[in-house]
Amino acid sequence: MSTEKRSYRVGVIEGDGIGPEIVREAVRVLDRAGEKFGFSLDYVPMDLGGCSIEKYGIPLTQETVSQAKSCDAVLMGSIGGDPKTSPWYQLEPSKRPEAGLLGIRKALGLFANLRFSVLYDDLKDACPLRPDIAGEGIDFVILRELTGGLYFGEKRTKTVNGEEVATDVLSYSESEIRRIAVKAFDAAMLRKKRLTLVDKANVLESSRLWRKVVSAMAKDYPEVELDYMYVDNAAMQLVRRPSQFDVILTENMFGDILSDEASMVVGSIGMQPSASLAEGTFGLYEPSHGSAPDIAGQDLANPLATILSAACMLRYSLDEEEAADAIERAVMRVLKQYRTKDLKAEGDGTTLVGTARMGEVVRENLVYRLNDF
Ligand code: IPM
Ligand code: MG
Repeated sequence: MSTEKRSYRVGVIEGDGIGPEIVREAVRVLDRAGEKFGFSLDYVPMDLGGCSIEKYGIPLTQETVSQAKSCDAVLMGSIGGDPKTSPWYQLEPSKRPEAGLLGIRKALGLFANLRFSVLYDDLKDACPLRPDIAGEGIDFVILRELTGGLYFGEKRTKTVNGEEVATDVLSYSESEIRRIAVKAFDAAMLRKKRLTLVDKANVLESSRLWRKVVSAMAKDYPEVELDYMYVDNAAMQLVRRPSQFDVILTENMFGDILSDEASMVVGSIGMQPSASLAEGTFGLYEPSHGSAPDIAGQDLANPLATILSAACMLRYSLDEEEAADAIERAVMRVLKQYRTKDLKAEGDGTTLVGTARMGEVVRENLVYRLNDF
């Protein structure tokens, strides 16, 4: 291996709620991985969501966008507060924390969101599905389109015949569909070569365009077995027989909903990492879960989804595959013995730990390089 030290610039958005404590652990894991594998990381702290509202009155500033663009990748915790109690939700919708997240995805062109669902052997107890279903194994990824569809379409509310009528436009262009479909076919080629397009083509015009574009692309990927599934059926199949899925490709809102379901299928949303990718190698990496303000600052949050997101960052944006593998292996090893509260089952013989200790045991287990075996 070369002795020259590789160095990367990583934007860090701690965010709100449990964000700071889970990001802290992930950054420490990254630093340890850097020491072991010969690279260094320079961190650029950035504001987004509620903490940005507190400082600047808006959830996303131009400064944050420019800082992110100057980085190789961005690692994020989570943003948002409790809508029932937080003053952020008294603001108009475009000034709330979530608008910042949607805004940064758009500004950075993060059109492809990958959310992974893997049932680790040692977490079978935490899986809510029947053992015969879980026993078939669960390992799939959802590719969710992230910068189009309903969440970004025109929105309006007007009064018609004396009552309010609200409209959200769902629109997709061929090129928007094609660029994420390429990522999905490529992902399938690296995995089990099965791709499922999830849509509602029996009802929605936009879904019919997705089918047309994706089925035309299939001839360039003759090895990939492509099938189609309506989203309502997909929601059912995810709990009926999740082992059938390898790569799921879907539009923004369906992916939002199905990826939350998928995270529970493998035990806890506290385990699901995500990568939001732009054209090229840039990406933003965040756990799929939210900011859990109810447990913030209590050392209760599970940092593993953020740590696994950091591993995704090493793999997809920084090309540090060996370090990414090592972090994933360390997570698998710690799960044999340690659990945060969200994963703990009565009498499972494991040790209950908090956020900081979980990060620490991952670092302690980051001992091997591939060729040490
Ligand atoms: C997610 C979240 C966001 C989304 C919200 C916070 C805007 O639910 O990342 O899945 O819907 O994309
Ligand atoms: Mg969501």
